[in-house]
Amino acid sequence: MGRLVGKTAIVTGAGRFGNIGVGVCEAFLREGARGVVATDLTVDEGDALRREMEKRHGADRFVLLRHDVTDPEDWKRVVATTVDAFGGIDVLVNNAGISIHGGVESTSLDDLRKVMAVNHDGVFLGMKYCAPALAEAVERFDGGGSIINNMSMSSFMPSNKNLGYTVSKAAGRMLTLCAATEFGPRRIRVNSIHPGLTLTPLIEEAFEDYARQGFWESREAAVDGVAAMSPLGIKSYPEDTAHAFVYFASEEARFVTGAALYHDGGLGKRF
Ligand SMILES: NC(=O)c1ccc[n+]([C@@H]2O[C@H](COP(=O)([O-])OP(=O)(O)OC[C@H]3O[C@@H](n4cnc5c(N)ncnc54)[C@H](O)[C@@H]3O)[C@@H](O)[C@H]2O)c1
Repeated sequence: MGRLVGKTAIVTGAGRFGNIGVGVCEAFLREGARGVVATDLTVDEGDALRREMEKRHGADRFVLLRHDVTDPEDWKRVVATTVDAFGGIDVLVNNAGISIHGGVESTSLDDLRKVMAVNHDGVFLGMKYCAPALAEAVERFDGGGSIINNMSMSSFMPSNKNLGYTVSKAAGRMLTLCAATEFGPRRIRVNSIHPGLTLTPLIEEAFEDYARQGFWESREAAVDGVAAMSPLGIKSYPEDTAHAFVYFASEEARFVTGAALYHDGGLGKRF
């Protein structure tokens, strides 16, 4: 408890109960964050989410904004609102992501561009527009600013079923490394987290899709089958993944930049 006391974070893709973004917001608030600005493309669950966060963590520490991560103007608004509300930005979590299944032949150019726009351009824009505010974090915290890009094991593994997602997450890892090099002298650390299977709505939808395409007999069989593939053989949930984000956001990681943290039960070591 208390590892993020006084820090302010923006977390994208955090407007849906049960997803990794909301898990990260919860963990940050539990660790004493001064403010968490959650953003998402749709905020249909917004009121319920706000009420729940206030009930669990007190008023005035959680803000939820509608935000399209592919839109530069939206980023400027989110940055300005966060600085107005909390006085600065210490942590940026680029978590929003989408997936459209298909291989080289079956993926349309439009679909490829849609996935790249969110998973790649969204990360690029977040880093670009938050960097000036994050560079001031070192005046408040010795660990400086922290950018945490939520990638995937797909950053490192080819896939014949999920081309756009895989390519975008591989590019996101390289964006992380480039930004770590560029921003280091301004004391902004940039790291990526690479979750394996984490049980969220995105996964439910993806596995439903795999089942429809006949890769697995049902969604449940797909979830059980993929979980069993990792050496640990167990399922992981957003609250597990959130611990990794807390580490990179905290002062404990003041000397850590450019790192890739596998959070996958060892799945990547199978290949
Ligand atoms: N769940 C997993 O097993 C898993 C594994 C590896 C990586 N990831 C990554 O974790 C992140 C979160 O995934 P999740 O499982 O919580 O999925 P999710 O679908 O529940 O959450 C993703 C969120 O991103 C939002 N989003 C989509 N397009 C957006 C846009 N243009 N602007 C702003 N927000 C947008 C969605 O509305 C959604 O709330 C994603 O980047 C995903 O690739 C997830």
